[in-house]
Amino acid sequence: MTDQPPADAPRGGRRGLFLAVEGGDGAGKSTQADALARWLGEQGYAVRRTREPGGTGLGRSLRELVLHGEDGSVTARAEALIFAADRAHHVATVVRPALEAGEIVITDRYLDSSVAYQGAARELGHGEVRDLSLWAVEGLLPDLTVVLDVSPEQGRLRRGATHDRVEREGDDFHLRVRRGFLDLAGQQPERYLVLDAQEPQPAIESAVRERVRELLERR
Ligand code: TYD
Repeated sequence: MTDQPPADAPRGGRRGLFLAVEGGDGAGKSTQADALARWLGEQGYAVRRTREPGGTGLGRSLRELVLHGEDGSVTARAEALIFAADRAHHVATVVRPALEAGEIVITDRYLDSSVAYQGAARELGHGEVRDLSLWAVEGLLPDLTVVLDVSPEQGRLRRGATHDRVEREGDDFHLRVRRGFLDLAGQQPERYLVLDAQEPQPAIESAVRERVRELLERR
């Protein structure tokens, strides 16, 4: 299988629903994205569960390059461009075709991760990093972004012993990441759901379901 977009994949309007789950390292995003995908699947929706970085063949190579090198092996701007390249390919070959086919796409991380990690935490600038990613994805934004808010200390404890190159950064870095996500959510509350990652898992699941149910009813 190649990662080329179908020749007839349109770039315009879409029929599916695009949901992103975001948050700092150790927030429990994957667990929540899986639970949401299962719940929607049980109701008969066609669901595409995916992730960044690494939602495509090219993306898996880029993920390896950007996360598993030694400290200092990727400069901040190169890092921003690699995440943007992963996103461009992911949207063109997975996300947009699935939305055009009417599916519900649930991605574990999306554009806000770049704004929070590269824009805020690496201090490359929110606006520049956002514009880079918007160019990469031809303007595609989620219908809803769930932010699982986690403090640097809680995130570190929940991650345990294994740390990739970004996770290894100190608490000050992860605090800027956290603030980056909260700033984005604060600017457009209608497109976000911010939840405390420390809440019990079932409580988080039901809050997410409630908001997604509203979105589905409004479609
Ligand atoms: P993730 O896949 O969520 O981590 P895990 O290995 O626990 O599944 O994310 C990998 C790392 O990449 C994470 O530390 C955040 C970072 N990242 C960025 O810095 N910028 C981005 O745009 C994205 C998508 C991820």
